[in-house]
Parts: sequence; C-alpha cells; structure tokens
Amino acid sequence: MTEFRVFRFDPADNKPARFDTYTVPWEKGMTVLEGLLYISDYFQDSPSFRYSCRAAVCGSCAMHINGKYRLACNTLIETLLKEGNGTITIQPLAHLPVYKDLVVNMDNFFRNYEAIRPYLIPDKSVPENGSAALTTREFIQSPKDRKKIDGAIDCILCGACYGSCPVAGTNPEYLGPHAILKAARFYNDSRDAASKERLSIIGNNHGLFRCHSIFNCQVVCPKNLDPAGAISQMKMKLVWSKVKGLFGLG
Ligand code: SF4
Ligand code: FES
Repeated sequence: MTEFRVFRFDPADNKPARFDTYTVPWEKGMTVLEGLLYISDYFQDSPSFRYSCRAAVCGSCAMHINGKYRLACNTLIETLLKEGNGTITIQPLAHLPVYKDLVVNMDNFFRNYEAIRPYLIPDKSVPENGSAALTTREFIQSPKDRKKIDGAIDCILCGACYGSCPVAGTNPEYLGPHAILKAARFYNDSRDAASKERLSIIGNNHGLFRCHSIFNCQVVCPKNLDPAGAISQMKMKLVWSKVKGLFGLG
C-alpha cells in the first residue's frame, strides 16, 4: 500500500484548494497513472485528471509528482518510493489556470505554440507528382537532414517544461520553451523556407531574450529533449542574422 496525496480544487465550488489522501495498493511495474485510475475506480468524489495514450506519446498526463514534472503514465510508483518517503504527492502543472484538480487550461500554452506557425512553410518549389507508383506529392528529405531535427520532433507538447519555467510563471506572453523548441525544429528543417519569419516571431519581446537560461526545461523534459539548447541556438541565429543585416550580407 502507498499513500497518494492529490491536489483538489474546483473553481466552481468556492472552497479553498486542499490535498486529499488515498491509500492505493500497488505492485511492481505499476505507474502513477494506474494509481490514479485505481482511485477513480474505488473512491467516491475522486480527483479529475487527463490521460489518453498511456504510452508517453500523447503528452496529456504531465503533472507535478513528488517535486518534479513528469508523465504519470511512465512514472513507476516503485521509483518514487525509492526516491522519497512513501507518500506520492501530485499537483497540476504550474502557470496554467486549474479547471479542476489535476486538469489545467492549456489555452495559453497552445496559443503560444500556434504563434510560431508550427508547420512547414515551403518555398515555391512544391514537389511535382511523382512516379505512377507515387501518387501523392512528397517533400523528400535526406536522412542526414532528417537527423538535424530528430531531437525536436519528439516533443509531445506535454507542458512539463512550461510548468517548470519561472519566466512562463511570471509572463504568460512569453512563448515558452515548447514553442521555441518547435520553432527551432522548423527552422532547422531542410524543407522549410521561412527562416526569417521564424526568427522574427521568436525574436520579439516575448520570445528568445525573455529566457533567463535557468535550464529547468532541459532537466524535466520526459522525452529528454533540450529546449534550453534550442533557445541558445536560436539566440545565436538571431544575433548572426542581425549582424549579417548590418553589413548587408543577409
Ligand atoms: S519539450 Fe519536452 S517537456 Fe516540453 S512540451 Fe516538449 S516533450 Fe514536454
Ligand atoms: S497518457 Fe499519453 S503521455 Fe501519458
């Protein structure tokens, strides 16, 4: 058995936030998400939470679990008990309004993501229809070029980096590590032709230079990505493009 201490808050009922404690039986291999599902099955008035894939792919189960932002579906209860004192404390992602219990409103997070135009913006050389066997138009990319974006492509938009970022906590306009990582992903994509536009979107007052290089995002990312590294890289690209502009080279 272990104790789950779960954050409870419902803005609709005018009561202060609290933690409720549940006793959960567990066995080796069981995840935090499975513990929450047990609570849903066996307790009245159980907490609300989000999940979908249960395989660390959809990003919907990111929460603050025993002091760290993690995915509930790939965090083993056993690991937490080894790390801590026998109680598992779960809170919602920070910096986003709570809808109910562990469910946050991600509108701002996705608004910032949409702001970077998270899709390919190719130039005019749209591929022609291919051979008879290939009836759809494809943007061919070499394995070498694909490798350049490997890291950032794996982002599942879980929000762990955003929740851990103190700048996002004080400035909701800040694009956030997830959005800048995605901007870098498209900037570095050999099929994309909007480098200048991408730099100008993330080079504004609420973009790159709001980042104070605290590196929380790099530490918490459950997919082992490096948003902080992407932010540094894009800062360099932006500075270099300004220098080139000054000397008429851009
Ligand atoms: S960069 Fe990592 S922590 Fe941030 S949203 Fe993507 S997967 Fe989640
Ligand atoms: S349920 Fe999809 S990432 Fe956890």
